[in-house]
Amino acid sequence: VKTVTVKTRDRLSDIHVGEHLANAGLYIPPGRLVIVTDANVSRYYRDLFPAGEVITIGCGEGIKTLATVESIYRDLIRLGADRETFVLGVGGGIVCDIAGFAASTFLRGLRFGFVSTTLLSQVDASVGGKNGVNLDAYKNMVGVFAQPEFVICDLSLLASLPPEEISNGFAEIVKHALILDRDLFHYIDENWERALNLDPEVIGRLVHTSVAIKAAVVEKDEREAGERRKLNFGHTLGHALEKITGQGHGSAVSMGMAAAAEFSRQRGLLDDDSCRRINGLLTRLRLPTAWKQEPSAVMDAVSKDKKRTADAVHFVFLTAIGTALVEAVRFSDLEAFVRGR
Ligand SMILES: NC(=O)c1ccc[n+]([C@@H]2O[C@H](COP(=O)([O-])OP(=O)(O)OC[C@H]3O[C@@H](n4cnc5c(N)ncnc54)[C@H](O)[C@@H]3O)[C@@H](O)[C@H]2O)c1
Repeated sequence: VKTVTVKTRDRLSDIHVGEHLANAGLYIPPGRLVIVTDANVSRYYRDLFPAGEVITIGCGEGIKTLATVESIYRDLIRLGADRETFVLGVGGGIVCDIAGFAASTFLRGLRFGFVSTTLLSQVDASVGGKNGVNLDAYKNMVGVFAQPEFVICDLSLLASLPPEEISNGFAEIVKHALILDRDLFHYIDENWERALNLDPEVIGRLVHTSVAIKAAVVEKDEREAGERRKLNFGHTLGHALEKITGQGHGSAVSMGMAAAAEFSRQRGLLDDDSCRRINGLLTRLRLPTAWKQEPSAVMDAVSKDKKRTADAVHFVFLTAIGTALVEAVRFSDLEAFVRGR
C-alpha cells in the first residue's frame, strides 16, 4: 500500500493506493457506519463491505441529481444518522460525488471517506474534494469542496470494469502526464501494452503517480484559481464533444487533448514531434484523436460550458510533453482554430 496525503486548508486526506475494500473497516472511526454504493458495485462486491447500513443508488450520470441526494438524506434520517455517523462511498466517480455531497451537507456535515472502484475515480474523481451533482443540463453545477478523510484505491476491483471504463481512466492518466510529468508519459509509452492488460505493477504505478500529481496540484490551489486549471487540459473541447457526440468521457477528453496539442502546435508552443507522439500514444491506448463534428455545434457546446468567462475561455496549452500553460483565449480565436481543423 502506498499512501499519498493531501494537505488542504482544513484537513489532511489520506489516499491509500493498493489497499483493499475488505480492509476499509481499519480506517473507519468507531460508531455508526452508512455505506453509499450503486447497484453494480453492490452486485459484485457487497460481500467485501465493512459492517454497516447500506444505501444503494442507481447507476449512470442520470442519477447524479439533487433528487438522489434528497433520497439519501431521507434514508439517513430513517437510519437514525447523527453527527457521529460516518459515511463511506463505495463506487466510481458518480457514487463518490453524490455520497461526498450528501455527507458534507447532511446535518451541516458528516465525516466521510471513499473506496474508489473505477480507474477514473481512483486517478481523478476521488482526489481533490470536489463533490456535487448535475442540475438540468449543467454538469456538476451544485456542490461543495470537502475533502474525504481517506480514499482507498483497491486495484483488484478494476478487473470487473468494462473496457470503456478503463479507457476513461487512461485518458485522465495521460492528461496528468502531459501537463505535469514527462517521465510518466515515457513510462506509459514504454508500458502501454501491459497497462491495457491491467498488469498490477504497471497499473499500481500509474494510479499512484496520478494521485500524487493531482494531490500536489490540489494542495497548491484547492479552489481552482490558478494551477488547478491545468487539470482541465483537453476538457474545453472534450466536454463539448462529450455532449454532442454522446461518446464516453475518456474518448471525448482524448479527442480534446489531441486538439489542444494541435492548437498548441499552431501557436508555436509545441513542436511537431511531441504532437505526433501524443497522438501515437492515445491511439495505442485505443483512444480516439480525430473528430468531424460541425464546428458550429462544437462551439455552441463550448459556449454553454460553465467554465467560460465573458468572451474568453481559460485554455490549457502544452509547451512540451509534461509542461502546461493556461491562457485566456478569445472565443473567436478558439472558433477560428475549430473551423480551420
Ligand atoms: N469530483 C471530481 O473531482 C471528479 C473528477 C472526475 C470525474 N468526476 C465525475 O465522476 C463521474 C464519472 O465517474 P466514473 O467514470 O467512475 O463513473 P461511474 O461511477 O458511473 O462508474 C462507471 C460504471 O462502472 C460501474 N462500476 C463501478 N465500479 C465497478 C467495478 N469495480 N466493477 C464493475 N463495474 C463497476 C458503475 O456502476 C457504473 O456503471 C462523472 O459524473 C464525473 O463528473 C468527478
